[in-house]
Amino acid sequence: MKKISILLCALALTACGSPQTSSPTLDEVFASRRSIRAYKAGRTISEAEVRELLTATQNAPSWANMQPSKYYIAIGEEKRNAVLELIGGNKERVINAPVMIVSTFETAKSGFFQGEPVDATGDLWGAYDNGLSNAYLILKARAMGFDTLIMGMRDADALRELFDIPENETVLAVIALGYRAQEPNVPVHRPLDEIAKFY
Ligand SMILES: Cc1cc2nc3c(=O)[nH]c(=O)nc-3n(C[C@H](O)[C@H](O)[C@H](O)COP(=O)(O)O)c2cc1C
Repeated sequence: MKKISILLCALALTACGSPQTSSPTLDEVFASRRSIRAYKAGRTISEAEVRELLTATQNAPSWANMQPSKYYIAIGEEKRNAVLELIGGNKERVINAPVMIVSTFETAKSGFFQGEPVDATGDLWGAYDNGLSNAYLILKARAMGFDTLIMGMRDADALRELFDIPENETVLAVIALGYRAQEPNVPVHRPLDEIAKFY
């Protein structure tokens, strides 16, 4: 029994109280990434760390490699406070998150050829690419020890004005970035056979 627990400790360093010395596995990132609605106050995240995070998003695939996703980062106190006023009831959830990231995509790019949509999907391909990019962002954030909340409840027009976002970009989510202050519940997931059919 002792031998088995030593072996398990060797395999999972963190489970036995040892400091984490290596990057978490992808499965560990999936398991621990949750939408966080309470953040530790007084913890900062540097611009260099946010740059590392955003560099990871550049590995995300996009339609014909159009890379339509753009990010506007409120890392200074003044801009961060301004964003907090534009996310409705989310404000209290992310008030202590040190960074707010506004995610947009350039319209008429993914899914378009010579200015025309290639199929009925149109700009939904741009939104698709932006979602993929955001997925890389939130998973990389977790791998770096950060936490996130994607917020669809936001005032897109006011955010456009605040960051001077051009009209050819669609403002999608605001993503709060910080350190969790609470362990979240794992939401109930639909049975796999309800969402996947094998033929
Ligand atoms: C596009 C999108 C918009 C969301 N908007 C909000 C939001 O405005 N406020 C919020 O608290 N959570 C928001 N969420 C988080 C979801 O509620 C959350 O992802 C879902 O309940 C699953 O929980 P989990 O992320 O912990 O797995 C949003 C998530 C997505 C993907």
